[in-house]
Amino acid sequence: MDTLSIRAQGMNKNVTQILKKFLLVQKNPYDEESNPNGICNCGVAENYLCENELISKLQSIQVWQKSHMYYPCSQGLLSLRKALCDFFQKIFELNHQLDPDRMMISSGLSGIISLLSYVIGDRDDVFLISSPYYTAFDHDISAFSNCATYRCPLLEQDTGKFIFSVEIFKRGYDDAVAKGLRPRGIIIINPNNPIGDIYDEQTIQPVLDFAAEKNLHVIIDEIYALSLFEDQKPFQSMLNYSSIVDPKRTHFVWSFSKDFALSGVRLGVAYAGSSELCSSANAINFIQIPSNIVQEIATTLISDCQWIDSYTKLNRSRLTQQYKKFQKAIENIDNRIYIRPAKAGFFIWADLRLLLHDITFEEEIRLFQSIFEHGLYLVTGSFLGCAQPGWFRIIFSIRETWIDEAIKRFKLGLDAYQHSIVLSNA
Ligand SMILES: Cc1ncc(COP(=O)(O)O)c(C=O)c1O
Repeated sequence: MDTLSIRAQGMNKNVTQILKKFLLVQKNPYDEESNPNGICNCGVAENYLCENELISKLQSIQVWQKSHMYYPCSQGLLSLRKALCDFFQKIFELNHQLDPDRMMISSGLSGIISLLSYVIGDRDDVFLISSPYYTAFDHDISAFSNCATYRCPLLEQDTGKFIFSVEIFKRGYDDAVAKGLRPRGIIIINPNNPIGDIYDEQTIQPVLDFAAEKNLHVIIDEIYALSLFEDQKPFQSMLNYSSIVDPKRTHFVWSFSKDFALSGVRLGVAYAGSSELCSSANAINFIQIPSNIVQEIATTLISDCQWIDSYTKLNRSRLTQQYKKFQKAIENIDNRIYIRPAKAGFFIWADLRLLLHDITFEEEIRLFQSIFEHGLYLVTGSFLGCAQPGWFRIIFSIRETWIDEAIKRFKLGLDAYQHSIVLSNA
């Protein structure tokens, strides 16, 4: 351990279980032909549903130019930033022009979050976030800047309602201050991971008002904005809100990882409250700016409006169908499983409380272990900071050919867990 800096030694506590298990799964991924004994991955939020359409589109893009051989602009290629401004304007039906000087490109939304926390947070500042949530942010937000997240539990988790409200942030703010912490910002994930809810402007506005009253930054993560199920009304982005009370402290973030299923490409975007913020982030961003070639491919991809339109429709239709199919398959395993209906995203948010011997986090982890030992990785609520034990997040947007295997392993893991309880009670 003494070969590591004190900083690196301390960092381990912020590497959440979802990141630790992810590394394990990556070493041994299931494939029906090349690795049938590998781990089936229903834990990492990736989308395989349009991979054939995406790969053929990407392969059709020929881009190498001499300029791509040299250092990129550390804010991101101007051509990509301009194309993204047009893209967001079109998909969110904005009636105002976006400014490419307020846009930054970085290494995924993870890179963007670490960058934003670096330029707006000081050491030991905290960012309030509704929980359960995508806990890899704990790591992203602390890695460079030593800031931390502060959990604000969604209301009525015991009844399965998971209600979002400004009250949770007010309470979180007071708790954090009472503990001597300094709240610096609020992070909102909309559409929400892991719940799959969509929050409208009316729901978000009071949070923006509260943040403005306390001089807090607000980072709104809309990474699943185009991954809505078919029966949903159009998503209203914060870029399209009628008013933003503290625009300089309100930041939009998005990435190509989810809506375009390009998590391996590492392309994240921020539309920051001010161009000064981008300028100050530029120096540090040079460490992690994606390559020119990747940015150029992304520029071509999002500039093809016709293709975007048909891809988005296809993606939403497949997400909707596979969600239903997966939901039915899980409910058929045991009718005591409740799946809280989602509106967007890649997740099944499942209540397995009635299958637990005791409704405790220990039993939740025992069930997780049993399923994991049968070769299926899914994520427990506790890995995601859920306050109520017994909830699990299952990623359904896997390859269709993996579904039967995943369900079989799920069932085997559940049976083994229940059998082990019978044995231990005997
Ligand atoms: C809500 C949310 N934000 C950010 C990320 C990370 O995105 P990226 O791959 O662009 O770093 C994820 C990944 O699962 C996510 O679910």
